[in-house]
Amino acid sequence: MTAPRRRPFIAGNWKMHMTVPEARALVAGILESAPRPDEAELLLIPPFTALTEVAKLLQGTGVGLGGQDLFWEERGAFTGEVSGAMLRDAGCSHVLVGHSERRRLFGEDEDTVLKKTRAALKAGLRPIVCIGETLEERRAGGTIPRLDHQFDADLGGFTAEEMASVILAYEPVWAIGTGLTATPAQAGEAHAHIRRRFEEKYGNALAACAIILYGGSVKPANSYELYREKNIDGFLVGGASLEADSFIGIAREALRADREVK
Ligand code: 13P
Repeated sequence: MTAPRRRPFIAGNWKMHMTVPEARALVAGILESAPRPDEAELLLIPPFTALTEVAKLLQGTGVGLGGQDLFWEERGAFTGEVSGAMLRDAGCSHVLVGHSERRRLFGEDEDTVLKKTRAALKAGLRPIVCIGETLEERRAGGTIPRLDHQFDADLGGFTAEEMASVILAYEPVWAIGTGLTATPAQAGEAHAHIRRRFEEKYGNALAACAIILYGGSVKPANSYELYREKNIDGFLVGGASLEADSFIGIAREALRADREVK
């Protein structure tokens, strides 16, 4: 299957980092040396408290904004929660759903992820749904069954039209924040499998356009080799997105690989 040409998609998940003044400084650094929007698609995913300020700074730059989570209800007595419409209102176009930290630390299960993905689509946000296996699952040869299970359970019942808006992020749990990165071959194999799953369920055209990101200890030093894998369309970056140099370094390495092989 030959995928149409896509720009590298580089998303920075800031997690629980960055006060507003810190966010301002980081955004300034990123904008200073960011590749052009027609070269690479950049997305910043700050904590909720910095969204409005970052949205202002990104206006007219072509760099996108995403939320880290949303609740599935549209409004109501849900103390501490944030709706899809609120994220749209704050300037977001994307939202993370089912990050492994939410699954592991906050008890989110597949039903939660499904409901949140549905809510994101309903609000007009592109959900970035995170899937990936634990180290135990990988060691037991359970990586592919785990990915299949999550793909089916997290995304069950969506139409092809809805799925066209869904971005998948393959984030092996054992590679997140650990300094361990999946090798390009390991990541490439998982991504090829996810794209095949898209194809089986939703057809060739949709699978070819689907954006599948890799996440887990991505840094400038490993992003060139990872991006050379044909089914890796970009990265969901945690730690290395907290400094402009490393975040932009990753985008530039992906671009270099993109020019060479894609
Ligand atoms: P690290 O890049 O810090 O490993 O985090 C990856 C991640 O969880 C991005 O969502």
